[in-house]
Amino acid sequence: MAISVLLAGDQDFRAALGSVLGGDYSFIEVDSVAKAADALLASRPHLVFVDLRNGSQIGVAVCRRIKGAASTRLLPVVACADDGQEATIAALDAGADHVIGYPPPLAELQARIRAALRTRLATDRLEDTSQVIFALANAVEAKDAYTEGHTERVGALAVEAGRLAKLDEETQEALRQGGVLHDIGKIGIPNEIINKPGRLTDKERIVMNKHPIIGERICEPLKSLRHLLPIIRWHHEKLDGSGYPDGLKGSQFPVPAQILQLADIYDAISTDRPYHRARTRAGSIEFLFGEARKGWRDAELVKLIAIAAEHLNLGRTREEDIPPPPAPVGQWRTE
Ligand SMILES: [Fe+2]
Ligand SMILES: [Fe+2]
Repeated sequence: MAISVLLAGDQDFRAALGSVLGGDYSFIEVDSVAKAADALLASRPHLVFVDLRNGSQIGVAVCRRIKGAASTRLLPVVACADDGQEATIAALDAGADHVIGYPPPLAELQARIRAALRTRLATDRLEDTSQVIFALANAVEAKDAYTEGHTERVGALAVEAGRLAKLDEETQEALRQGGVLHDIGKIGIPNEIINKPGRLTDKERIVMNKHPIIGERICEPLKSLRHLLPIIRWHHEKLDGSGYPDGLKGSQFPVPAQILQLADIYDAISTDRPYHRARTRAGSIEFLFGEARKGWRDAELVKLIAIAAEHLNLGRTREEDIPPPPAPVGQWRTE
């Protein structure tokens, strides 16, 4: 398979690089950030060449775009910059992994490509490792028939609420991944506790409450998951400081983790579980407002969850569509 190379710059730049590199590569040519963004999604190039000469604003924007999004952050970027230390530093600061002069001599260009592809191979392996963790999260979910689809719905609801809250795209992506991974620590919690119908004993509660920290520990070694750690660790905190594991208070409790938590609770109480009968959409939102009145949640964010749940049509709207629980109704559990 030919190595596919994204060339971002003006016509002259693209033509010059194309002719130096010759026929061993397949080229995707773009001259704007918007086209670069589309090309990144559609053709998944192996590496990128950007024109950063004369402080090219398009080149800088393309670099930032690639390095700013979780899905493309590890893509190698080679920048052509003006001669001189300052231009090199500016290119590296913009996010370039390699900086070369212009026009680039063929031998150096090919050596840079080899170096960039080596890096890519290494980061692909890292990505594979994070795929294993996502697979593990799905396995955790599969342990419990009652929570089927939970993580995906939590992610979708959190992303939609995050979008309504005007969080940036990278944070929205973190919410989607956080939706999948937030409960991965349950892998360390015995099934009898996870699936127990009814109230947990104090001892069982202590064990159950360890799952955010276990989850953080599982994901911690992987750089590509590091931005998710606050969401995983803090998805059971409460704004008044009475949550776990850290008892964060008020603004210490990051908004993305709050949004994920609300999506998590919404899904837990609006779906059938062995320990409770599901609530309708309106009933679930009322439950969350009740928790906001206790000082645990942010009422403004609850409003966004309500809108998001409606947009995604999550939860049932008619009481009569909801089956009774299989066991006597116990404590409402929201983890
Ligand atoms: Fe959950
Ligand atoms: Fe949880």
